[in-house]
Amino acid sequence: MKPLMVELGERSYPIIVAPNALADFPQICQENRIALPKQLVIVTNDTVAQHYLATLQAALAGYQMLVITVGDGESFKSLASYEHIMSQLIAANISRDAAIIALGGGVVGDLAGFVAATYQRGVDFIQIPTTLLADVDSSVGGKTAVNHPGGKNLIGAFYQPRLVVIDPNCLLTLSDRDYRSGLAEVVKYGVIYDPELLASLEQHSQAILQRQPDIIAAVIRRCCEIKAAIVAADEREQGARALLNLGHTFGHAIEAAAGLGEWTHGEAVAAGMIIAAKLSEQLGEMQTSEYRRLRQLLVDMGLPVTPPQLDPQTWWQYMRRDKKVKAGAVRFVIPVGLGQARLTSDIAPELVDQSIQQALTDS
Ligand SMILES: NC(=O)c1ccc[n+]([C@@H]2O[C@H](COP(=O)([O-])OP(=O)(O)OC[C@H]3O[C@@H](n4cnc5c(N)ncnc54)[C@H](O)[C@@H]3O)[C@@H](O)[C@H]2O)c1
Ligand SMILES: [Zn+2]
Repeated sequence: MKPLMVELGERSYPIIVAPNALADFPQICQENRIALPKQLVIVTNDTVAQHYLATLQAALAGYQMLVITVGDGESFKSLASYEHIMSQLIAANISRDAAIIALGGGVVGDLAGFVAATYQRGVDFIQIPTTLLADVDSSVGGKTAVNHPGGKNLIGAFYQPRLVVIDPNCLLTLSDRDYRSGLAEVVKYGVIYDPELLASLEQHSQAILQRQPDIIAAVIRRCCEIKAAIVAADEREQGARALLNLGHTFGHAIEAAAGLGEWTHGEAVAAGMIIAAKLSEQLGEMQTSEYRRLRQLLVDMGLPVTPPQLDPQTWWQYMRRDKKVKAGAVRFVIPVGLGQARLTSDIAPELVDQSIQQALTDS
């Protein structure tokens, strides 16, 4: 399958989306002229290892491999896990020429990526994402991080992988809730960038929910194409990359206010996108019919569209904590119709409050 390139000069890298890519991993590296070093380190977690580690190990027979597993969950995207991995790399005498492979969802990818960015000042890094969110979002673009008790992703680096290999068949074992959460980010790409993607999601919603590999592979590829274009234009989030945060200012507030685990990230982003769309409708930038279409698509994907009931102070308290706040002003991504978006901090707070209220009472 033809690779898709993230164009970043000499740090450019290919993304390969192919069913069975896991078993074909060495051939894919070869086809893309990525010479695998003798020493490989696979970072994964217990859950993913159970499903996919044996396949990858069999494909890589003959290489010297160190497998490091961490616990499952966001709480393991921590400095403690970082230190645990570093200690094992040092104990095993892993050299600077080694490559670190992340096999897992966004948690494993962000953590392993930060290790790769900093072990001996940087070693080669390869992403093999296994959740839909990681396929379409976290594995592409080079943001790596661990959390701190003081906040999410506070410690990290921009560090691009050498290669991203996506096997859509891995999604077959993903929980329904994690799968649907990933779909929220997929819809987001359509809203900010691609009306055709939205139409295709509407047309194939059943096949997508059934995780039909050919359909889902095409959807993942399109999302990666969009993310690659945005990252190539704005690697360090000075401008266009911020549009990827559509629904996230409200979403982060929902996640934080509800407490850990109540809403998944994708669920919160879905409800957040609805508030942003409502705001756009009020500003006359989105038609009511477009708003209804987006709402219906999210409902069809099994995602929540009604935000939780919080008082306005709580919303603002959490939105001001969002990392996109610049010089004290909360910045909003506003969809302009469907297929385009803009970033602004010039929105009357009352309009925001009204949009939240209307999204709440809509049916
Ligand atoms: N770097 C970025 O640009 C970026 C972008 C978005 C999100 N993120 C980060 O990504 C993380 C969330 O990622 P996530 O949603 O993938 O969560 P996750 O990595 O925790 O994976 C979700 C769950 O699915 C399990 N799992 C993974 N693959 C599986 C498979 N194929 N079959 C069965 N189970 C599987 C995991 O063990 C976990 O329990 C957050 O930490 C977030 O900050 C990073
Ligand atoms: Zn997100």
